[in-house]
Amino acid sequence: MPGSELFGAEERKEVNDVLETGVLFRYNHDSIRKNHWKSRDFEAELAKFNGVKYAHSCTSGSTAVAIAMAACGIGAGDEVIVPPFTYIATAEGAMLGGALPIFAEIDETLCLSPEGIRAAITPKTKAIVLVHMCGAMAKITEILEICKEFNLLLIEDTAQGLGASYKGKAAGTFGQMGCFSFDFFKIITCGEGGAIICNDENLYHKAEQFSDHGHDHLGDNRGAENHPIVGFNYRMGEMNAAVGLAQIRKIDYILLQQRKHKKVLHDTLAKFPEVSFRHIPDENGDAATFMDFFLPDETTARAVVAELKALGVPDITGVQYWYDNNYHYIRNWEHLRNMNSPMKMVVHLLGAPQDYNNLHLPKTENLMQRLISLVVKVAWTDEQLQTLSSKITQALEKVFAKANA
Ligand SMILES: Cc1ncc(COP(=O)(O)O)c(C=O)c1O
Repeated sequence: MPGSELFGAEERKEVNDVLETGVLFRYNHDSIRKNHWKSRDFEAELAKFNGVKYAHSCTSGSTAVAIAMAACGIGAGDEVIVPPFTYIATAEGAMLGGALPIFAEIDETLCLSPEGIRAAITPKTKAIVLVHMCGAMAKITEILEICKEFNLLLIEDTAQGLGASYKGKAAGTFGQMGCFSFDFFKIITCGEGGAIICNDENLYHKAEQFSDHGHDHLGDNRGAENHPIVGFNYRMGEMNAAVGLAQIRKIDYILLQQRKHKKVLHDTLAKFPEVSFRHIPDENGDAATFMDFFLPDETTARAVVAELKALGVPDITGVQYWYDNNYHYIRNWEHLRNMNSPMKMVVHLLGAPQDYNNLHLPKTENLMQRLISLVVKVAWTDEQLQTLSSKITQALEKVFAKANA
């Protein structure tokens, strides 16, 4: 949880600015807010960091996906290709917007694969919601080619990808829109929050209006504003934005630390020929939030997880075996696979485009069974990092010694 490791005087100062005026609302009240516009300032810094013209903040990464889909005109009955390894919000965002998710294969990048996407395309496919999982990017060049060939929209769910890039271009800037999350577990956090980014002025206005009941945000009289479109309330509050503003100013330091720490873990794991690594198309663009590695098979992966736990590694950092995780892999999303919902959704009316309970995703299943991710922290001391490295070495030596006996 990198961002939350670094709360300090900077976050407190920004929050106090807001409390001094009492204007917790992001719009209007120009005469009493003493020129404090935390959401606007946060958006400006986010846009600058990502090298885009526009950013608009909202309540979460989940609502960022919903806003992006709506602004790009993806709705009732449109098929959207999504990964089965993500946070469930990606698929929920599609379903709640009326679209029909199609789950496609991932590859060693841990993101949707170009081959998987091609195999999932139908005449009804309108968009790909590409998730840049665990802080690094998909094979974006090949995926952009597919979008061009089939005239598909590309929404990038960069909730886990702030700071990731491909050949110097930021994750979230390749398609129509990028979507960020600033929940408590992300690289920078506002507690709860999210944002979309884009370069298209028209899409930007659709997004900022949709996220506030369609308000056009012209002038300083909210009651007199026009509403070009119907929307909903996904507005970010000034208190959250204040924390986000202090945090985005720490992103370069966070990335530097994470990359340094990840390298130590990588070098430790690389001593074992049985270990292989996630493929990252541009290693220089790795945000380095996770140390992801594969074991030869599920039995070995489970044995390594058990040994890391026995050695107390979870006291130092998170050990993720995503295959068993309830919110990141479709295997454990029984409620979504069965489309359990309190209300009727478009997917009920039109029918799901795939049998969600019998998906054939053998490549994904094989990768997920063998994948372990270690959370990379920012504030580790050299001593903690050395302790962690030696525990990883011990765990792997023990498991491989047993396997080779
Ligand atoms: C890939 C992905 N998309 C969307 C989200 C949703 O973000 P939030 O928790 O801010 O709603 C997350 C959060 O974990 C995520 O990892």
